[in-house]
Amino acid sequence: MPKLFITKPLSQLMDESKSDQGLRKSLSALNLTTLGIGAVIGAGIFVLTGQAAAQYAGPAIVISFLISGLACLFAGLCYAEFASMIPISGSAYTYAYATMGEFVAWIIGWDLILEYLFAASTVSVGWSGYVVSFLNDFGIIIPAQYTAALGTVLVDIPQVGWKMVTPELVKNLAESGIVVGNLPHLTAVLNLPAMFIVAAITTLLLIGIRESARFNNIMVIIKVFVILLFIGIGFMFVNKDNWVPFIPENTGEWGHYGWSGILRGAGVIFFAYIGFDAVSTAAQEAKNPQKGMPVGILGSLGVSTLLYILVAIVLTGVVSYTFLNVADPIAVGVNAMGEGLFWLRPVIKVAAIAGLSSVILVLLMGQPRIFYSMSKDGLLPPVFSRVHPRFKTPYVSTLITGFFALILAGVLPINILGELVSIGTLLAFTIVCVGIIILRVKRPDIKRAFKTPFVPLVPVLGAGICVLQMMSLPWETWARLLIWMALGIVLYFVYGIHKSKLRNRS
Ligand code: ALA
Repeated sequence: MPKLFITKPLSQLMDESKSDQGLRKSLSALNLTTLGIGAVIGAGIFVLTGQAAAQYAGPAIVISFLISGLACLFAGLCYAEFASMIPISGSAYTYAYATMGEFVAWIIGWDLILEYLFAASTVSVGWSGYVVSFLNDFGIIIPAQYTAALGTVLVDIPQVGWKMVTPELVKNLAESGIVVGNLPHLTAVLNLPAMFIVAAITTLLLIGIRESARFNNIMVIIKVFVILLFIGIGFMFVNKDNWVPFIPENTGEWGHYGWSGILRGAGVIFFAYIGFDAVSTAAQEAKNPQKGMPVGILGSLGVSTLLYILVAIVLTGVVSYTFLNVADPIAVGVNAMGEGLFWLRPVIKVAAIAGLSSVILVLLMGQPRIFYSMSKDGLLPPVFSRVHPRFKTPYVSTLITGFFALILAGVLPINILGELVSIGTLLAFTIVCVGIIILRVKRPDIKRAFKTPFVPLVPVLGAGICVLQMMSLPWETWARLLIWMALGIVLYFVYGIHKSKLRNRS
């Protein structure tokens, strides 16, 4: 039993990182920061901000961003200490192996599949929505049955187009006197654009880390530039009346405006922050991880938080939050700025498509690198750590990741995927925060290139806020998490426990 919690000695981790010549060490601190920004800014800001403001927080969504950002900052500080100390590509999996033992490490590695592989599929579904609408603007129509998850019922709303049938949509249309049953409808088969983008990005990732980083840099420049353009132009169109009341009065139901609405909003937009920790999965490909890791993790988190808060201020200033419950809230904001700015609408869509592409890229890049580390430790079969002789990429695990992400993107709806991603990520953040406290007690002697300030306060607060956010998620999400974890535990006892290199050595 105690062997279940066998920890990997830090000296061994350091030696492994020095001797492993498999992956190419080519990423600078700037590359790592853009990688982080690439992973973070995506569906959260382009889709969820408006919905969270309209339904839960009103203009006070700005406070929701601050709360969620603070939780991520605490977790980010802990990630930065670990990543500067253990420059191995496994991220939270590797940190748990060094602190809490093999079983917890396996659990967290399995959990990270939710944060990376499942999140890549989730964002691909968002990408598909933007691409379909962009092509539509140019008269290119993709048949609706190939643009949504298997079994999704879609209705053709006059002047709007095909939309997924939800109880909310039925209610809204009924209020305008439209009976959904009378509209043309069909059942979707597959989300082909979502599958296409996963396949295209997987191909790019196979070719090389440098090429992927270069593509990511271009996408990041486009999305950050357009977001700054929106903020800059938007400030001139702010109508301060839209900010009043800043915190709309609670409706009597928990989570609907008022302070509880701000908290619920924080839980929803947590998704927008996911990804800064993906920087740590590229640790083995960093030129100077001791410096690059903390800069990449905290730099990308800082830039994204600032942009989010400014977008939230401007968006709720140019248009009343009550109009923002749509799939493209930023475009609604641009509409409110008047006809003179209609040219900005397609530009926003291009930025969203670019932004979401880079998120998918970094997530699909992180997952195989976590598999790579787990396979090197013997917990996954050796093929997962096979590196391509010419491209120097973990090509087999990249292909396996791409295959499963493609299937999920094609057949699953975005809401189920999204909530699983959030709960999985929050669990990983909690374990990393706890890990920092354990390692400070167990190994105070190790040289840390970056130190989390105010330990144990910062990790305790980080873990505490993450657990609170997990508690605010519905029980169905918890049930799915538990089923996923149970599957992982079975796999460990069937395979990993017998093949673990660390166990077999000791
Ligand atoms: N933070 C990423 C996004 O918003 C996952 O799309």
